[in-house]
Amino acid sequence: MKIEFSDNDVKYVEPWPGASKLFPWKELITAVPSVIFLVTTYKDNGKPNACLQSWSTFFSDKGELLCIFGHVSKSGHMFSSLLKTKECVINFPYPEIFDKCLATIKNNDFEDDEITKSGLTVEKAVSVNAPRVAECFLSLESEFLWEKATFTDGRGVSICVRVKHVAMDPEYFDEEKKGRYGRTGYIYNINEPLNPITGLTNSFSIGAIEKQRPIK
Ligand SMILES: Cc1cc2nc3c(=O)[nH]c(=O)nc-3n(C[C@H](O)[C@H](O)[C@H](O)COP(=O)(O)O)c2cc1C
Repeated sequence: MKIEFSDNDVKYVEPWPGASKLFPWKELITAVPSVIFLVTTYKDNGKPNACLQSWSTFFSDKGELLCIFGHVSKSGHMFSSLLKTKECVINFPYPEIFDKCLATIKNNDFEDDEITKSGLTVEKAVSVNAPRVAECFLSLESEFLWEKATFTDGRGVSICVRVKHVAMDPEYFDEEKKGRYGRTGYIYNINEPLNPITGLTNSFSIGAIEKQRPIK
């Protein structure tokens, strides 16, 4: 039998001060995993920008592959550079290079080439004015379609982009080799799952996805 939860029924011991402001209990009780990627753009000064994102979804309409970045912080470089250049690359890392991707959060000064400073390599894109990350196994060169604010005074906006061009390491589209899934493929964000009875959270983790069986 399920237990019902509303605002006053949940215990939430903040794992760090201010956690509940950034990650409300509804996010941590559900802890729905989401795929992690690096969005790269050029800043106003021409320096490469890299922003880790995971609150997003991919889908198709009218023969186009689209991505909605569910929450792009209005105070970050990604927001300002993407709105200006109207182009970006969505780069998918594998687990071994996750720490370098994470380092882009510290190496986030306006003057930084955030890709190189984090130990990754800038690669030229084919169809957009945005850098690619050479080490990532999949790069989706994309153009801006629209932005929408969920709340006028919220921290972020949703942005939709259209994928124009795909670059992929052949070891990854061959499921007999590395493939896209498991411990060598896509990385998932598992955000501090909360036990609403004890109020305790589990650690913020990365995870892998495993194929189980064909759908018939
Ligand atoms: C695993 C992970 C996922 C993240 N996902 C998002 C996200 O979906 N949206 C967002 O605005 N910030 C997200 N962040 C935080 C940004 O990566 C971080 O604030 C970054 O420094 C912003 O870069 P920018 O100034 O280049 O935009 C995430 C961080 C981590 C570690």
